[in-house]
Amino acid sequence: MKVLSPPTEELARNLLSKYPFKGYQFRLLGLHSENVVDHHLSRLMASSTTAGAIQDGDRSALLSLTENKYLSHHLERRASRLENFLRSDYEDPEPCRAMVGHFLTLPEADGFCEAWLPLDDIIGVGALLAGGFYQVGVEIRLARRLGPDFNPEYPEGLDLRTYEPADEQHLKDLCADFHEKNRFAFDPRLESSVRKRIYVEELSSLLKSPNIRCTTYWEDGKLVGFNTGKINRQLTERTGQGYGSLDLIVLHPEARRKGAGVGLSLAALEWLRDQKIEYVACRTMVSNYPATALLQTLGFRIVFAKVILHRWGNPNADAR
Ligand SMILES: CC(C)(COP(=O)(O)OP(=O)(O)OC[C@H]1O[C@@H](n2cnc3c(N)ncnc32)[C@H](O)[C@@H]1OP(=O)(O)O)[C@@H](O)C(=O)NCCC(=O)NCCS
Repeated sequence: MKVLSPPTEELARNLLSKYPFKGYQFRLLGLHSENVVDHHLSRLMASSTTAGAIQDGDRSALLSLTENKYLSHHLERRASRLENFLRSDYEDPEPCRAMVGHFLTLPEADGFCEAWLPLDDIIGVGALLAGGFYQVGVEIRLARRLGPDFNPEYPEGLDLRTYEPADEQHLKDLCADFHEKNRFAFDPRLESSVRKRIYVEELSSLLKSPNIRCTTYWEDGKLVGFNTGKINRQLTERTGQGYGSLDLIVLHPEARRKGAGVGLSLAALEWLRDQKIEYVACRTMVSNYPATALLQTLGFRIVFAKVILHRWGNPNADAR
């Protein structure tokens, strides 16, 4: 068995090209596979990514980790994301186990690691579980097309406004108290203060981005909900087609089931349409039934499901 660290570009391209799990998502998002391979390859070969591969005759496997600086800051230890776990044969457990064994020897594995694996990659998920990862939940990705003819009809009587900087603290409070179904909230090994803080900080950085639109929802002069829509500049520039997403949405519990979720989402979609966005994606935990129902009402279809796994390496290593 040969270990390649980093892997050759040729091997990485070859394994990315054979990746079997995203076909439906790509078709629905109008993505051409060469564009997607180029996009992932550029991330995989970037200096911020640690990638390794093993080769044993015709069999090969590749794994890549990217440091997540933002999570490292919250968790006070190195945090990385397992971005790719590619193999020449997805039904062959051997290279998969060997690759995880190699991963466990990397210094990066000492910190916190988060992995998303396709729900269908049973062998890959099994190998990560055997390597000390635990399952936090399943996330679904949803998508819809957005043509220039998209012309929404809003539910009546909603007080929707464009976000103003003076609203920021209200948004953070709503996010901390009521964004209860995110992947960190599902991890029992994270302290509850950390679980809350992660999404609030994510909101703060989103609000600074020039690529987002935030809309607020008001009842009786009080801000009781908001959402954000975002342009995916990287993918848009790479493919020449407009890609965007719906990101955070939170309503105070007493403001729910009155159509505000639909109203806020339509406002984001309308803005994305005006930015020439043609495809919109979205993600939620599969057990977030209200969010899934809302997205289906808005014409989104489930295109992909991923298992989210977390792992804590040696707790004494690399504490910052
Ligand atoms: C998800 C959420 C934004 C929905 O907002 P909402 O204002 O209640 O949604 P709407 O009133 O616009 O509902 C639109 C449709 O979605 C579906 N829906 C919404 N909530 C639902 C629920 N609890 N159960 C079943 N269906 C639901 C229904 O089809 C509904 O239409 P209907 O009321 O005519 O039946 C809200 O529940 C929320 O803030 N949840 C907590 C934060 C969160 O989970 N955010 C999503 C993270 S990805």
